[in-house]
Amino acid sequence: MKIKPIILRNIWESLPVGLMVIDPGGEVITINRAASEILGYSLEAFEGKGWGDLFFDDEKNTGFNQIIIDIIQERKVNLKRSATYVTPAGKILQLSITGSFLREDGEIAGIVVLINDVTELHQAHAIEKTVLEEKSALQHERAESIKNLAEGVAHQIRNPVTAIGGFSMRILNKLDQDDPNRAYLEAILKETKRLEDVVTAVGSYTKLLQIEPKRVAISEVLEKAKAGLSRREAELSKKIEWTVQSEPIEVIIDPGLFTHALNELFLNALEFCKEDQVSIEVSVFEDANRANVEIKDSGTGISEQDRPYIFDPFFTTKAVGVGMGLCKVKRIISEHNGEITVESSLGKGTQVKIRLPNR
Ligand SMILES: Nc1ncnc2c1ncn2[C@@H]1O[C@H](COP(=O)(O)OP(=O)(O)OP(=O)(O)O)[C@@H](O)[C@H]1O
Ligand SMILES: [Mg+2]
Repeated sequence: MKIKPIILRNIWESLPVGLMVIDPGGEVITINRAASEILGYSLEAFEGKGWGDLFFDDEKNTGFNQIIIDIIQERKVNLKRSATYVTPAGKILQLSITGSFLREDGEIAGIVVLINDVTELHQAHAIEKTVLEEKSALQHERAESIKNLAEGVAHQIRNPVTAIGGFSMRILNKLDQDDPNRAYLEAILKETKRLEDVVTAVGSYTKLLQIEPKRVAISEVLEKAKAGLSRREAELSKKIEWTVQSEPIEVIIDPGLFTHALNELFLNALEFCKEDQVSIEVSVFEDANRANVEIKDSGTGISEQDRPYIFDPFFTTKAVGVGMGLCKVKRIISEHNGEITVESSLGKGTQVKIRLPNR
């Protein structure tokens, strides 16, 4: 007996993946043990049987049958599909099916069907998906209750602050220029303005929950965010030197919110730079199905002690600042299922990296 066919037979039989060869007319030429076990028929059941004899009359397996028909009709090499399959004993499986062809003199001699039982993997994915959905629903619920609380507090503060500011201004206007009480009233007005800024920042944070995504070019939002900076540039008597490298990438985002996020990041780059000339480098590129936006500045950098807190609400190292900028940016990016990281050290500038799903 020749050894080669025996080896081949052994390999064929011991393969953990189901293999079946069907002739172009639909008759099963051969099938290995794994395939017969997965499909729930004995090896003998396939002998001399047409494909249709075994499977077509079972309504539960229409999806599975359709894939085999597609493989035969579409004649695509390595066509990979996934389908539910119900065995004759009623067991429900999730199968991954790949089709390819055996050719002889350019003619199709047989259709090779590779069958993998991916039920466990599928179940694991389904559980993971449910857990993620539950987690995201919980996060949404928490975000909603924080939003309600923040809106409530902001509303309660706004009215008294307006009254304090308004009345202080009226008293101040009545005082003589050299009245010693003017300084106290001016201090009250300054602090009132600070409280108003906090209320405005909290109000704008709570609005971030309503996102309206659409397909836009990143370069478009980038230009808008850059344009929104000129007023602050003039106020601080600084000049930004832009270096922009932008691949033409389209993403599904809320253009208004995303522009706002980029604007906050550019403002930080501008505000946390001691020089009058501020260098901001922006690069937009794509890798492994993600859109990347990276912003590098030449500013003061962030100390190691401060770095863990920069995304916290109200964390600021400004003498007069609200500290909601990065907190809002983080919120916007995570609402877009993206990620944001900041790399920085004192004296060496800061680099912010944003990664977004671009499909
Ligand atoms: N590009 C940067 N360079 C240096 N430090 C930064 C930069 N970006 C953020 N930081 C640090 O992170 C802190 C928090 O930033 P964030 O934008 O949240 O608040 P803020 O700029 O201080 O105030 P606001 O944005 O509300 O006006 C800043 O106070 C600063 O210490
Ligand atoms: Mg800021």
